[in-house]
Amino acid sequence: MELIIEKARVSQAEEVLKCIRQAAEESNNLIVTTENLKNYTVTEEKFLIDGYRKSKTGLMLVGIVDEKIVSLGTLQGNSLESKAGHRVTLGVFVLKDYWNMGIGRQMITALLDYCVGNPYIEIVDLDVRADNYAAIGLYERFGFETIGGYRDYFKDGDGSYEDAILMALYL
Ligand SMILES: CC(C)(COP(=O)(O)OP(=O)(O)OC[C@H]1O[C@@H](n2cnc3c(N)ncnc32)[C@H](O)[C@@H]1OP(=O)(O)O)[C@@H](O)C(=O)NCCC(=O)NCCS
Repeated sequence: MELIIEKARVSQAEEVLKCIRQAAEESNNLIVTTENLKNYTVTEEKFLIDGYRKSKTGLMLVGIVDEKIVSLGTLQGNSLESKAGHRVTLGVFVLKDYWNMGIGRQMITALLDYCVGNPYIEIVDLDVRADNYAAIGLYERFGFETIGGYRDYFKDGDGSYEDAILMALYL
């Protein structure tokens, strides 16, 4: 299997949105829900991708297998004029049919390579559901450490709550 990782283009907005919708259906670990995404438009996604492309610290990467987007990796930056300009927040998901093939690992590697090469980024943050052991283990193997958490951060459709763990990697 060949994985191509590239910077998301505005022209990919429709496919990117489709991929996010599918991931939200397949996994309970994302913060966005199918309901949430219903009213989200391709125009909005285009605007978002354009913003990532113009940002000095933000980044959206797509992972492509057989010409299909199967993974998304993002770094959300803060305004460089703010006091949090040296931090970015990492996010990643892989479509279910492609789990456990090394794609998540390769996406995170590409995101972190970008961070290391970026003069503004000093700390990479992320938040993850406390019960998402696969993702937590993966982040730990990249050197992320737990720096805190939010109790009851996620509220699921059935009304139950789950904590979030905050992790950070100091470059
Ligand atoms: C978490 C996620 C990104 C991992 O991507 P992936 O492509 O399946 O992971 P990889 O194949 O690269 O495997 C990476 C490592 O995780 C381990 N792993 C993957 N799935 C696992 C599971 N369900 N249980 C335990 N370990 C698991 C692999 O063994 C591998 O170990 P290694 O680092 O020692 O090689 C993917 O499962 C996913 O998108 N899940 C749904 C959304 C999500 O949870 N995103 C993260 C939100 S913070």
